[in-house]
Amino acid sequence: MTAQKQCSNKKNVLILASGNGSNFEAIVKHFRAKGFAQSFDAPVSENVSFVNFELLCDNKNAPVLKKAEALGVPAYCVDFENFYDFLTVRKGKYDLYVLAGFMRVLPEKILETCSNDAFLKDSYANIINIHPSLLPEFKGKNAIARAFEAGVKETGVTVHFLNKNVDSGKIISQKTLQLEDFGGLNLSQLEAEIHKIEHKIYPEIVEKLLFKKNILVFGGGAREHAIASHISVSPFLNRLFLANANDGFKNLGEILEFSDYSDLLKKSLAKKIDILVVGPENPLCEGITDIFENAGIKVIGANKVWARLEGSKSFAKSFMQKNGIKTADFKIATDETTLEAALEYFLSLENETVPVIKADGLALGKGVFVPKDFDEAKNVAKDFLLGKFGDASRKILLEERLFGNEVSVISLWDGKTLVSFPPASDYKRLLDDNMGPNTGGMGAVAPSKITAEQKNEIEEYLKTLETALKKEKADFCGVIYSGLILTNDGPKVLEYNMRFGDPECQVLLELLDIAHGADLLDIFIKMTEKKLEKNDLKIAPKKACCVVLASEGYPENPKKGAEIKNLEKAEEYGCKTYFAGVKTSQGSLTVSGGRVLSIVKSGEGAREALYKAAEAIEFDGKIYRKDIGV
Ligand code: AMP
Ligand code: GLY
Repeated sequence: MTAQKQCSNKKNVLILASGNGSNFEAIVKHFRAKGFAQSFDAPVSENVSFVNFELLCDNKNAPVLKKAEALGVPAYCVDFENFYDFLTVRKGKYDLYVLAGFMRVLPEKILETCSNDAFLKDSYANIINIHPSLLPEFKGKNAIARAFEAGVKETGVTVHFLNKNVDSGKIISQKTLQLEDFGGLNLSQLEAEIHKIEHKIYPEIVEKLLFKKNILVFGGGAREHAIASHISVSPFLNRLFLANANDGFKNLGEILEFSDYSDLLKKSLAKKIDILVVGPENPLCEGITDIFENAGIKVIGANKVWARLEGSKSFAKSFMQKNGIKTADFKIATDETTLEAALEYFLSLENETVPVIKADGLALGKGVFVPKDFDEAKNVAKDFLLGKFGDASRKILLEERLFGNEVSVISLWDGKTLVSFPPASDYKRLLDDNMGPNTGGMGAVAPSKITAEQKNEIEEYLKTLETALKKEKADFCGVIYSGLILTNDGPKVLEYNMRFGDPECQVLLELLDIAHGADLLDIFIKMTEKKLEKNDLKIAPKKACCVVLASEGYPENPKKGAEIKNLEKAEEYGCKTYFAGVKTSQGSLTVSGGRVLSIVKSGEGAREALYKAAEAIEFDGKIYRKDIGV
């Protein structure tokens, strides 16, 4: 058996059940239906995974024993007082212990004999249970009936790791049932709905815990640090690999060095990477997704065709026009003649607004210019056309200037379903009170302060976007960032990005309701399986805030080389630190870029703590905005 266990595609599972066994049956049938081999005697093949189930039961009259017999699953019926001995003899045999309607609490010495590693602080990482309520509500017996009698508006199912207390281990996943979606359920109908959810999610979670994923995160900013950091604590992770990580977070995973995308692909195949998560836009526009997907590796990030929503402003405009998505009026220019015509058009408008000038392609976030008058517009437009940003600006957009607050709405799209984070606000200007030059972002808060009406309008917009993506058969799995401006005439799209915003990502991930089983890797896995559902993105009801510490001279010419000190202070104030422009030099972390690091915190007192941390962290030339989250 030991030799078989070393094979990553052969797993042994012990299911503990003492009742009806409907979850037992659902789990076994799930694996059979998906073509997993059940016997280790079956012929060995690279492409077949084996899951061998056994049942342990302490009640010889339990219906689950009949189910085991019918399914051909070996069953052991053992008195509970002999469990410890039974399990000790088999120590190390099972990859996962699954409680499926096992009506007893397992004492600590049994948990310890089953445990195979110490991955979790206060829970056993390979022993799981399912509970029919949204823990920590309604722990213990008769949970469905007690929730029903309490008249709850929502209830659901929790899968959690075990610890020595009843229904208290780390929550792996929670699925919510809104009772109003059903209109008056009676108790037995509610039980039936809860069981339906159990039979769907429990087998999926067992599968994800047995076959954990190898993940590669691509990118070297604070955004990618935040993404990698969330993935690194997921129970569904096997190995984490990093490409282009900066020195501030390279310790989170194993580094893959590479010369180009095909070299990275070769190394990723050798490491059996399951999913590539792409942080920045350039690799997407250059087609990294297509390269990996063609080789069978799943990718979170748009393919080359759809990356054009960010990489070509004219493509984005035609997508919006075709699909009734509100955006600023615009004209395209590619030379002097078309530029003159475009300027004429804006001059002829009643309000004569000076158009915003935008490079069509990617220009390192610098391709947008808001001129003060028509002369400036013309001069800047000419510079752009003459190649100020190379080929990216040989085609330009002249765009109607809009007024209103801006929000970033970041959505996840799996090819079928669009699920969105709450709107976030990015502080783009360098200085307080939105003064100074545009930057990549000096801070962020989420959710944004918006009115109920604006919230509804944004939701309407997102429905239109989802319909458009479906209609256009947008066949990618990734992120869509809608840069919206909230005008008097409703939200309008200023730009699309096909990635998380930076620093918006840092605050949005902070809002994930981890205490109730929200898990970024789980969301990514669901996306790659095209199984994303609207309530998969669990957001905690709190506010998150991020302050970026930058280096003097940013964005034009940031000072580099200073040593960064007192980083431990951030943690003392309960803040997380995500690194961007940093490099290890002679054993110390030093400044190597404009945006040096992000500090993030959520909940009560977040802002005060962040500013204490911002003050305490030291490096020569440190600058930051003092008005984030005011
Ligand atoms: P971007 O570099 O694409 O993020 O754009 C930078 C900023 O330029 C945006 O966040 C807006 O503040 C501003 N901007 C872009 N387009 C318009 C527009 N049509 N009207 C007003 N401001 C705009
Ligand atoms: N924070 C703006 C962006 O990521 O584009």
